[in-house]
Amino acid sequence: MPKVGVIGLDLGSTHVRAVEVRLGRGGAAGKGVPTLTRYAQVPLPLGAIRDGEVADGPAVTAALQELWVKGKFTSRDVNIGVGNQRVVVRELELPWMPLPQIRASLPFQVQELIPMPVEEALLDYYPTGEREGSGGRMMQGMLVAATRDTVRANLMAVESAGLRPRMVDLTPFALLRALTRDAYADQTVALVEIGARITQVVIVARGVPRFVRMLPSGGQNVTDAVAGALGIAAAEAEVVKRSVGIGYAVEADLAAAGEAISTVVRPLMEAVRNTFVYYASNNPGAGIEVAVLTGGGSQLPGLDRYLESTSRLTVVAGDPLAALKVAATAHLEDAVGHSPSLATPIGLAYGVAA
Ligand SMILES: Nc1ncnc2c1ncn2[C@@H]1O[C@H](COP(=O)(O)OP(=O)(O)OP(=O)(O)O)[C@@H](O)[C@H]1O
Ligand SMILES: [Mg+2]
Repeated sequence: MPKVGVIGLDLGSTHVRAVEVRLGRGGAAGKGVPTLTRYAQVPLPLGAIRDGEVADGPAVTAALQELWVKGKFTSRDVNIGVGNQRVVVRELELPWMPLPQIRASLPFQVQELIPMPVEEALLDYYPTGEREGSGGRMMQGMLVAATRDTVRANLMAVESAGLRPRMVDLTPFALLRALTRDAYADQTVALVEIGARITQVVIVARGVPRFVRMLPSGGQNVTDAVAGALGIAAAEAEVVKRSVGIGYAVEADLAAAGEAISTVVRPLMEAVRNTFVYYASNNPGAGIEVAVLTGGGSQLPGLDRYLESTSRLTVVAGDPLAALKVAATAHLEDAVGHSPSLATPIGLAYGVAA
C-alpha cells in the first residue's frame, strides 16, 4: 500500500477542490477499498476559470496555495483534469498495436477526425476493447484530443502554486472511475455531471466508456438567467434559484424567476436527452438503463424528476463517496452541500498510483 495518498485536483468554475485518497490493496484498480484522507476546497473569484480553462492565472494560483494550507495534503504531486466542449472524444478503431505505439502514431492517424491542427492538439487514446476484423486484430477505444493552450494555462497555474502535475486526465474518465467503481458493472448508465458552466454526459456500458459529450451550460447559467430577469445580484439570484427549483408551482411574484430558470434548464435537459437518444439509436438493444446525476448544478430542486420525465429513464443521485472509506482527517463535514461535486477530484485521484 502506498505510504502517501494520491491527490486529485479539480479546477472547477466556482471552486478549486482537492482530495487525497489512500488506495487499498491492489492500487487504483485493485479490490482493496480506498480511503479518503484529506479534502478541501477554496472558492474562486468569478471568471478566474472560464469554461474549464484558467483565465486569471494569479487568482487561481493564490486559491491553490490557500487550498494547500487549508487541506494539509501530504504531497504536492497532483492529478489534474481537462474537460470542456473544446475537448474532442470519439470512438476510434485502429489495427491492433501495443498501446505506446498507438499513442505515438496518433498524430499521423487522426487529423481528419479532430477540428484543430494536429500540432496544436494533445492526443491520447483510451482502449475499451478489441475484436477480430476481416483485416486482422483491431483495437477499439476512445480518441481524446485537447488543445495544448487549454492544458498549458491550467498547468502553469498549478505549477506556479508549487504543485507538481503528475497526470492530466479527461474529467469524464474521472467521473467514470469515481461512480462506477463498485456499481453498474452489468449495466449501461449515463453519468450526467452538471457543474457551474459545463455539463458532461458520459455513457458507460459495463464499465467501459462508450460516448462522451460536453455541453457548455450548467448551474451558473441558471443563476445568471435569474439575476438578469429579476435585475438582482448573483448571490441573491442563487438563493432565489434554489427556492424556486424546476417543475414546481411558482408563486406569482416569482413567476419571472421560474420562467428564467426554465429557459436554461429546458434546453440543457433537452440536449442531455438528445445524447441519450443518439446513443440508443446507434446501439440498438443496448439502451441506457439509468441516469446518474452529480455536480453542484444537479442539486437544483426538481431537476432529477424533470430529467426523468424528459428522458423517461430512471434518474438517481450519484454518490462519489459510496466506494470509499472516509477518514476523520478528511473533515468531510466541511463538504456538506458539496459532495455531489466530489466525483471529479476523487476520480482524478484514482487515475494513477502514487
Ligand atoms: N443546493 C443547490 N441547489 C441548486 N444549485 C446548486 C446547489 N448547490 C450548488 N448548486 C449549483 O452548483 C453549481 C456549482 O457546481 P460545481 O461545484 O459542481 O461546479 P464547478 O465544478 O465549480 O464548475 P464546472 O464543473 O462547471 O467547471 C453552481 O452553479 C451552484 O449554483
Ligand atoms: Mg466541476
